[in-house]
Amino acid sequence: MKGLLLLSLLLHVKCQRSSTCPPLCSCHGRQVNCSSRSLTSSSLPTGFPTETTELHLHNNHLTHLPNGLLDDLTSLRSISLHGNSWVCDCGILYLRAWMLRQPSSLTSHLGVTCYSPPSLRGRLVVYLTEEDILESCHYWYCDLALASQVCLFVFVAVQAALLVALLVFLRKFERLSKVARRTMEESFTAGESQRENDYTVLKDSSI
Ligand SMILES: *[C@@H]1O[C@H](CO)[C@@H](O)[C@H](O)[C@H]1NC(C)=O
Repeated sequence: MKGLLLLSLLLHVKCQRSSTCPPLCSCHGRQVNCSSRSLTSSSLPTGFPTETTELHLHNNHLTHLPNGLLDDLTSLRSISLHGNSWVCDCGILYLRAWMLRQPSSLTSHLGVTCYSPPSLRGRLVVYLTEEDILESCHYWYCDLALASQVCLFVFVAVQAALLVALLVFLRKFERLSKVARRTMEESFTAGESQRENDYTVLKDSSI
C-alpha cells in the first residue's frame, strides 16, 4: 500500500516535471518556444515535455544536440532548428539520424544547415553523407592509438638499447675476468717457482 503510494507520488512528480515548461522557454499548451534566447548547446534545457507537439529552437547559438534529447517527443508535429551554428562533425550525427527517422513532412522544410567547418558551411544537415561528417571528425582515440604506438616504439627502442648495453658490458666483464684469472694464475705459478727456488736455496745451504 505504502509502496503503491510512493510509486504514484513518483509518477506524479515525474509527470509534473515532464509537463513543466523548460527553463528559458515559454509554453502555450503543448507548444514550447525556446527560440531567439541565445541558447547554446550547454544552456539548452536537458529535456522537453513528452507531450510537446511544437518545439521552437530556431535563432539560437546551438552547435550540437545532446544524444537522445528528442527521442521521447513522440507527439511532435513540428520543430524549428534553423538559424543556429550547427557544427557538422561527429556531434551532428545524432541530429542527422533523428531527422532521417522523422517523416519527410516534418524535416523537409527545416533548413538545418551547417555553420562549420567551412568546407560544409551551408550544407543541409539531413543530406550530409557519412564521409562528409567523418572527414571533419577529429578522432581523439586515433590520436590516443598513435600516441600509444609511439610510446610502444620508444619503449621497445629503449629496451633494445639496454639489451645491447648489457651485452657489451657482459662481454667486457668476461674479458676482464679472463685477464684477471690469467694474471692470478701467472702470479700463482710465479709464487710457486719462487717457493721452489727458496726450497732449493734452503736445501743447498743445509748441505
Ligand atoms: C517565441 O519567443 C520569441 C522570443 O520571446 C518570440 O519573439 C516569438 O514570437 C515566439 N514565437 C511564438 C510562436 O510564440
